Amino acid sequence: MSQPNRQIDGRRLPNEKPNLDAALRPRYLKDYVGQERVVENLKVLIEAARQRAEALDHVLFYGPPGLGKTTLAHVLANEMDANIKTTAGPTIERAGDLAAILTHQRAHDILFIDEIHRLGRPVEEVLYSAMEDFVLDIVIGKGPAAKNVRLNLPRFTVVGATTRLALLTAPLRDRFGVVIRMDFYSQDAMEAIVRRAAQKLKVKAEDAGVTEIARRSRGTPRVALRLLKRVRDYAQVRADGLITEEVASECLAGLLEIDALGLDDIDRRVLLAIIENFDGGPVGLETIAASISEESDTIMDVIEPFLLQLGFLERTPRGRVATRRAYEHLGMADQTPPRQDTLF
Ligand SMILES: Nc1ncnc2c1ncn2[C@@H]1O[C@H](COP(=O)(O)OP(=O)(O)O)[C@@H](O)[C@H]1O
Ligand SMILES: [Mg+2]
Repeated sequence: MSQPNRQIDGRRLPNEKPNLDAALRPRYLKDYVGQERVVENLKVLIEAARQRAEALDHVLFYGPPGLGKTTLAHVLANEMDANIKTTAGPTIERAGDLAAILTHQRAHDILFIDEIHRLGRPVEEVLYSAMEDFVLDIVIGKGPAAKNVRLNLPRFTVVGATTRLALLTAPLRDRFGVVIRMDFYSQDAMEAIVRRAAQKLKVKAEDAGVTEIARRSRGTPRVALRLLKRVRDYAQVRADGLITEEVASECLAGLLEIDALGLDDIDRRVLLAIIENFDGGPVGLETIAASISEESDTIMDVIEPFLLQLGFLERTPRGRVATRRAYEHLGMADQTPPRQDTLF
């Protein structure tokens, strides 16, 4: 796995503590800003489960890092007043590890499995029957004396999160009653998130300063919170602590080289590689990654989704293609090849 090391990366950076932002994390749906469609879906799910006094249906969140998947798993637990245990695909190495976790689940508990696409096959198979029939099939002993034992589990809920839905096996995906796609946040939602965080952190920020930070945060709350902290430091040292539009853009554009759309150096290098080395595409992601010596994970999880969202890239069956908009953004409008925008 590649290590995230950029300000615009939605993944947690190695030096960022998981609990540092606990105070900023929305705990209930009413505090959750943006993602109205997702919130509405979850409200119905929660209300229905409460009325029937049942455990929540299994829920899968997917989408780019930093958008709130982990946060929502905890929100679900808070709303249901349920215990939550957190684990991750790569952590559960053997089927026995999962069995140990499952036998400790109590009725209505939530088991949050982050990076669920990275579960090993034998582990997944244990999970199938646990999710579907609430039973655990285990083998006790070895060799000819080995016995199959079936344990009943209480009704519990699996909440899964993944940045790569495509890597989930179909049977695992089918075990989730609810599958929710997380999108990048709107500018309005991003501004609300930055404003609230500024208040909680007791940072003075003018509206235009908030707008500026929100605009360069690529629709990703984790990036917004991180940039807010960078700008806060900058404002403290250079501008008496007040975040104005100027201060924000000096820090973000000048110091961190994040442009008006939230793109940084690596985004630009990806686009330039496609345009200059591969004639605008189509070209495969692995090839792009190799040509600019970047991890393909970073490009797939962090770079590509945002460039697609901006309409700078298109996916075709033969690879990625840079669009006219990408040329224009890079100031290369004149060289746009006469291309028919055929998609599929
Ligand atoms: N809707 C939101 N409003 C405010 N802050 C949010 C929201 N969604 C996420 N965050 C914050 O953004 C950061 C990343 O969220 P997280 O749930 O860890 O994302 P993911 O699990 O999708 O990578 C956290 O610090 C969280 O507090
Ligand atoms: Mg997460």
